[in-house]
Amino acid sequence: DEQTLQTRAREARETLEDRLFIPGHHYQRDEIIAFADASGDSLQLAQRSASTTADYIVFCGVHFMAETADILTTDEQKVILPDMRAGCSMADMADIHQTERAWQALTEQFGDTILPLTYVNSTAAIKAFCGRHGGATVTSSNASAMIEEALTRKERLLFLPDQHLGRNTAYDLGIPLEQMIVWDPIRETFEGEPHNDIKVILWKGHCSVHEKFTVDYMEKLRGEYDDLQVIVHPECSWEVVQAADLDGSTKKIIDTIASAPSGTTWAIGTEMNLVQRLASTHKDKTIMSLNPNMCPCLTMNRIDLAHFTWCLEELVEGRVVNEISVDEATATQARTALNRMLHAFA
Ligand code: 13P
Ligand code: SF4
Repeated sequence: DEQTLQTRAREARETLEDRLFIPGHHYQRDEIIAFADASGDSLQLAQRSASTTADYIVFCGVHFMAETADILTTDEQKVILPDMRAGCSMADMADIHQTERAWQALTEQFGDTILPLTYVNSTAAIKAFCGRHGGATVTSSNASAMIEEALTRKERLLFLPDQHLGRNTAYDLGIPLEQMIVWDPIRETFEGEPHNDIKVILWKGHCSVHEKFTVDYMEKLRGEYDDLQVIVHPECSWEVVQAADLDGSTKKIIDTIASAPSGTTWAIGTEMNLVQRLASTHKDKTIMSLNPNMCPCLTMNRIDLAHFTWCLEELVEGRVVNEISVDEATATQARTALNRMLHAFA
């Protein structure tokens, strides 16, 4: 049962001492966050992974995050994902072959004027692609600064795989929707007519969790609570972000709720585990999900106590299970893209 697993995990964790580092994304289950040495959003976890000297990193998050940790650590350090099925449906929406074909079509259309930027929610191969073509990775907490900087380097950019983060961030920077165009990687065509004023080419990908927050839900809740404030993650659609009071990365959502006055009422458009944790941490405020059906990220939730305990106990026995290892050629180019983000193109 759960209690036995907790005891076993605690014992294994203690045995491994500082040979083990456990990063936990904010969307992880509470029973996993309880074991995290660092909890954070994807940027914070990338930075923490880059600086740890532990031999083993048991990454409690999804596959692309574990890949990033592997890219940013030494060859000797082993990165482990407790459940190999913990992927990300958004990252799966851009594969490298589609991206190479898109690049060919896009450069035929626009010549050598495009810089590729990829959300960290992408495979190592896509990060490497960006590294090869002068581009970088971004996260939701630095997308704005990165897009602004990218547009001083090239006339336009290809933003993948999340059309919403790309559109919302570019719009906030003053780029009108008419200067953005969607590239559909399945049909291998633009949605709409490309023209010379295009600044941002958006890959047609999205997050299946954040897509479930709608303006209808928001209007209904605003009708029920007259002092309601709404904060959403920029992976939500443009319409939802426009109708919300605030939008921002996981970190910004946490900081906003933490500093909000007692007695305020909030609807939050992001992953369920984080919303529930904020509600139980800030009992002096009324906090609810923007979607009454809640919105779990099913793949984040695949990391559970049973898988976690199993890989720790294997480590105690000297066995590395579920290792995430990015091949050296891909890792080198992906590291270039990640470093351009971590050091703001410097
Ligand atoms: P951040 O942690 O960068 O806010 O991203 C949210 C997310 O969807 C992670 O998969
Ligand atoms: Fe991917 Fe969305 Fe889950 Fe984040 S919340 S890991 S973007 S599916």
